[in-house]
Amino acid sequence: MPPPPWPIGETPHYGATVRAVVCEELGSLEDVVVEERDPQAAGAGQVLLAVRAAGVNFVDGLMCQGRYQMKPLAPYVPGSEVAGDVLEVGEGVSRVGVGDRVMAMIGFGAFQEQVAVNAESIVPVPAQLSYGQAAAFIQSYCTAWFTLARRAQLTEGEWVLVLGAGGGIGLAAIDLARSLDANVIAVASSEERLDRARALGVKATINYEQEDLKTRARQLSDGGVDVVVDPVGGRHSEPALRATKTFGRFCVVGFASGPIATVPLNQVLLNNRTVVGVDWGAWAMSDPGGQRELLAELLDLVAAGRLHPAVPSERPLEDAAEVMTGLLERKIAGKVVLVP
Ligand SMILES: NC(=O)c1ccc[n+]([C@@H]2O[C@H](COP(=O)([O-])OP(=O)(O)OC[C@H]3O[C@@H](n4cnc5c(N)ncnc54)[C@H](OP(=O)(O)O)[C@@H]3O)[C@@H](O)[C@H]2O)c1
Repeated sequence: MPPPPWPIGETPHYGATVRAVVCEELGSLEDVVVEERDPQAAGAGQVLLAVRAAGVNFVDGLMCQGRYQMKPLAPYVPGSEVAGDVLEVGEGVSRVGVGDRVMAMIGFGAFQEQVAVNAESIVPVPAQLSYGQAAAFIQSYCTAWFTLARRAQLTEGEWVLVLGAGGGIGLAAIDLARSLDANVIAVASSEERLDRARALGVKATINYEQEDLKTRARQLSDGGVDVVVDPVGGRHSEPALRATKTFGRFCVVGFASGPIATVPLNQVLLNNRTVVGVDWGAWAMSDPGGQRELLAELLDLVAAGRLHPAVPSERPLEDAAEVMTGLLERKIAGKVVLVP
């Protein structure tokens, strides 16, 4: 292997073993441990990455608990998003070289010091993003952009109500709606979460634990919003749907609060509203070309300085279980990355 082009002192780990977060069994996050493992090699069509940051998402915790649609065979290494440096290039790979700074969405396997990934899945990290921002970018921003640009077709000047505004998808949706010059009302459960949304330049905020969501959203938007982004579900969905005006679009993105709302269908008939389903993950797998285009649009927006992805907080690999639990139990706001 040629010597890697990093300055002395920053050389990635080349030990006999690598540290990895391992989910021993699907079910409880208590079965998530850190182990020393044999290093992987880059197989044909793969690259080996030195992981600089791995994004932690709500779905990573669901996957370890066996509550996500994708159920890996345990024991497995969790973590769906990674940013790092190319350490080794496998046979047949010409689009990247050793030392390149890259990011990827990989399903699972990111929470470790090194990971071999399919070369097709990686893209260069834009100069504007740190490793941490890059590792926390793809899932949240692709989901939010698929929601706003493809499914809701949000346009300039429209009003968009973002629930769970201090979470990963919420913050990305705000940033992206702002890039389209839409008017954003951020909705969250605490001042700390609303402050994160305010930092992205929203028009107004609502604390849905303290204010009447439907009434307040209608007041703030002068009659009703055009689009709702709902990654939260539960008891907030129906008032949010009722806050939409004529031809409003209500986007069903997730159920972070647990319950799945059942809404009276007369509320869809009234005002000619539309309920829009959003399943970015399934779409991205079924349409890789479409997904490449979606991500390229986002990277263009980053390069043009139109997006401002939040700087995530950094935690060591040893905190993986605690961070996943914190997201599932609503104890963590904003984005977190693990830094090996
Ligand atoms: N449809 C898709 O394609 C797609 C793609 C990726 C993820 N998702 C889903 O979208 C949802 C949100 O993901 P995310 O990455 O934004 O998660 P996140 O960063 O953890 O944010 C979730 C937000 O939900 C709110 N929430 C309300 N009740 C909660 C509860 N009981 N427990 C946890 N959070 C609660 C919290 O905001 P407040 O405290 O302000 O209410 C929190 O900020 C998840 O259900 C995920 O599975 C969907």
